[in-house]
Amino acid sequence: MQFNAVSGSAAHRRSECVVLGVYEARELTAAARLFDGRHRRRIAALLRRGDFPARLGDTLLLSDVGDGPNARVLLVGLGARKTYNRKAYRRALQSALQALTRTGVRHAVLWLAHEPAAGVEAYYAGRYAAEAAASVLYRVPDLKTGARPPAPALNRLTLALADTDAARAAQRGLDDGAAIADGMKVTRDLANLPANVCTPRHLGRAARALAKRYRALKVKVLQRRAIERLRMGAFLSVTRGSDEPPQLIVLEYRGGRRSAAPIALIGKGITFDSGGISLKDPAGMDEMKFDMSGAASVLGTFASAAALRLPLNLVGIIPACENLPNGRATKPGDIVRSMSGQTVEVLNTDAEGRLILADALTYVRRFKPATVIDIATLTGACVVALGAHFAGLMSADPQLTEELASAGERADDRAWRMPLAEEYAEQLKSNFADMANTGGREGGAITAACFLSKFAQGLRWAHLDIAGVAWLTGAQKGSTGRPVPLLVDFLLHRARKAA
Ligand code: BES
Ligand code: MN
Ligand code: ZN
Repeated sequence: MQFNAVSGSAAHRRSECVVLGVYEARELTAAARLFDGRHRRRIAALLRRGDFPARLGDTLLLSDVGDGPNARVLLVGLGARKTYNRKAYRRALQSALQALTRTGVRHAVLWLAHEPAAGVEAYYAGRYAAEAAASVLYRVPDLKTGARPPAPALNRLTLALADTDAARAAQRGLDDGAAIADGMKVTRDLANLPANVCTPRHLGRAARALAKRYRALKVKVLQRRAIERLRMGAFLSVTRGSDEPPQLIVLEYRGGRRSAAPIALIGKGITFDSGGISLKDPAGMDEMKFDMSGAASVLGTFASAAALRLPLNLVGIIPACENLPNGRATKPGDIVRSMSGQTVEVLNTDAEGRLILADALTYVRRFKPATVIDIATLTGACVVALGAHFAGLMSADPQLTEELASAGERADDRAWRMPLAEEYAEQLKSNFADMANTGGREGGAITAACFLSKFAQGLRWAHLDIAGVAWLTGAQKGSTGRPVPLLVDFLLHRARKAA
């Protein structure tokens, strides 16, 4: 997909389709009015007849309104002018792009970003457009036999803006958005794969493939023996019941100054979570193939960062394994010794994510990271608390919390802070080990974060619980690519500060 942003006469050059916004109450946007004036006011006439309600997201393709190569016009409803904001812009974009994919249009000029919308600067107008195009064109790597429907013809988008400054900003947005979309695709493709294909070793291979693509990226994959030598007893206790070998994937991206301390991203890489001996309920268990979404989002974020050549140093740690029950599997009540030396009573083998992350948090210290963020589909409790719209954000560091929350806000990939207070740690007390791995039903997302915090002492650390946002269920079942937009936005802002 090719993206460009233009202004002035360039915006009026030929394309196969002109995309124009219309408000409810038969009100044309400025761009639509201008166009209509040059084309016998056919759009105004159509609106007068009441043939286009222009509710937000309505579309209508007129295939012979314009002249010659500009024959096609796609009208897009923007709803009421008063409520035309960022969310409406995104919705209108998505509908417009969806409509375009059902036509033979290869190149369209979009005038949606030309229209001012509350909370959309030109840069973000470009970024959202690139992201929306990628999401509309995304196809699940399915294993369906039979003829594949043909891919949409759309391969080039031009955004028309009011002036050269806006066009320049929008172009930056398009470029960043394209890189974010690339990263999201890496994430979605991996997370959508079934667990018999996307094994821990498959994740290791995917990481190596990424390092082949980008020279600034290096990857090391530690095998079981190395993991044993590191004494990662918590991680190893989770993989015990599985025949697939565990992998500890270590990524390094060097784009910053030699001496600059890296930002570390740790991703939960459970390629299938059956619960282990504390076996899950069968209903919906298939969705536990998505339990490596944290890992996939780390790989996706590294892909974006490398594509953007961010002037930062990054470290990625992905402990990857399956959580399955067999005769050697860890049992409720078993006590394991983590790499940190702290012992853990495994009361519930289904609370496995925190165990593999605990050892990753210990391992990451050798990189002397400036900041550590772990990303994990950690708790069902987080889904109960925040649903599918916000990720859980927990950190003892107010500045890092604020940085991540605003990154999510800007990227439209939001996270909400939950309290990481001492009181909750009480629930993790054990009579037999330093701590238990579960703290009961109450505040489950928070007690999970409390558990992690015991392994993050002295680190500038934040935890993102993405259990609710990483994938959609139901008819739309599939990976969302979140929180790659949040993470890349966070890194873009850190990069700006470093420059
Ligand atoms: N991967 C799950 C969390 C999860 C559940 C994500 C449902 C998305 C949807 C995690 O490993 C888990 O099983 N957590 C348990 C923890 C409990 C045993 C303390 C949970 O949330 O039930
Ligand atoms: Mn589990
Ligand atoms: Zn899990």
